[in-house]
Amino acid sequence: MPDKQRIHTPSRRTLLKGASAMAAFAALGRFPSPAIAQGAPIKIGFMLPYSGTYTKLGKYIDHAFRLNVEEKGGKLGGRTVEYVQVDDESEPAKATDNMNRLVAREKVDVVVGTVHSGVAMGMVKVARDANALLIIPNAGANAATGPMCAPNIWRTSFSNWQPGFPMGKVMYDAGHRNVMTITWRYAAGQEMVDAFKENYTKAGGNIVEELYVPFPQVEFQALLTRIATQKPDAVFSFFAGGGAVKFVKDYAAAGLKNSIPLYGTGFLTDGTLEAQGADAEGIKTTLHYADDLDNPANKAFIAAFKKKTGEDADVYAVQGYDTATLLDIGLKAAGGDVAAREKMYAAMQAAKIDSPRGPISFSKANNVVQNVYLREVKGGMNRYVSIAHAALADPARGCKLAS
Ligand code: PHB
Repeated sequence: MPDKQRIHTPSRRTLLKGASAMAAFAALGRFPSPAIAQGAPIKIGFMLPYSGTYTKLGKYIDHAFRLNVEEKGGKLGGRTVEYVQVDDESEPAKATDNMNRLVAREKVDVVVGTVHSGVAMGMVKVARDANALLIIPNAGANAATGPMCAPNIWRTSFSNWQPGFPMGKVMYDAGHRNVMTITWRYAAGQEMVDAFKENYTKAGGNIVEELYVPFPQVEFQALLTRIATQKPDAVFSFFAGGGAVKFVKDYAAAGLKNSIPLYGTGFLTDGTLEAQGADAEGIKTTLHYADDLDNPANKAFIAAFKKKTGEDADVYAVQGYDTATLLDIGLKAAGGDVAAREKMYAAMQAAKIDSPRGPISFSKANNVVQNVYLREVKGGMNRYVSIAHAALADPARGCKLAS
């Protein structure tokens, strides 16, 4: 929220300190909001899943964002940082209340969230109404940077369309002509399947059948039997987190691994390989990251994340890390003043970041533009195979900022 909407009850001393700082800034021709003059920290609200099937995803976004801030001496845009956390439970019905709590009650300067597309849509509505700055570090809901796009809504991760679309060509080129799809029935699954289908059917491929499971259920048996009966050439899927671990293991246990190749967006095997073990070997996916991307930013990031957490980085960690980088760029341009929105947004629009995932920039719809890689699981790693689609921008269908 803009600082002017805060209620301050400063002491006489801090008022005096603030006044002299204001005078100094005024001499430079700039009038920062009182919070900055008083050296107040920037308040960041994390609205992420800290429980449920997406717990690990939320935690890695959180850890990597903080890592980035620590690397900057505990500051973003020159200001110290204070965090507030809310567990959104990947529960869309609670999204509005949770978001209001951060924006209206906690009066955070920026909201960073979330993982689940349905929850993100609730957040986007509140952010639009309140003109609150929202940076989405995962959830791919196309509408967030499509019909619901706004100057104050940014996304550092992907739109659901982005990792799904290139796989249509990859699977067609691999010779698969009759494919089944399987996913959770909610925006992320539906939109990734739709993007895959768009490209796959354009190439001439045939969709045999689409299968859906309610989110976050993991009872796959009946649907795996259906796949075995239909015998498609291959399967395209989206699952993530704990659900992806179970799906990949069940697919192998059903005896399908060696007869019907399993593909998906890279979430199927990202951050999950330790738990999936041999059952994930050989799975090919498309995503905007691969573990062994050979660039200095990736090498440094993987090492720093390991040092901080003792864990291996994944795509969610990369997204959390890049979220802090983007915010730092915006805040620096605004002299640390979140109320100086135009300066912030102009700098964020112009940002060119050397991310661990490769070069990224931002579209007019405020969605990330990035390479989408084909990867294959080998030796417990998502290894780079090729660039499936270079510098891919979401089409931003329905976004007024983009037209
Ligand atoms: C989403 O709901 O948008 C979502 C969740 C988890 C992922 C990817 C997308 O890994």
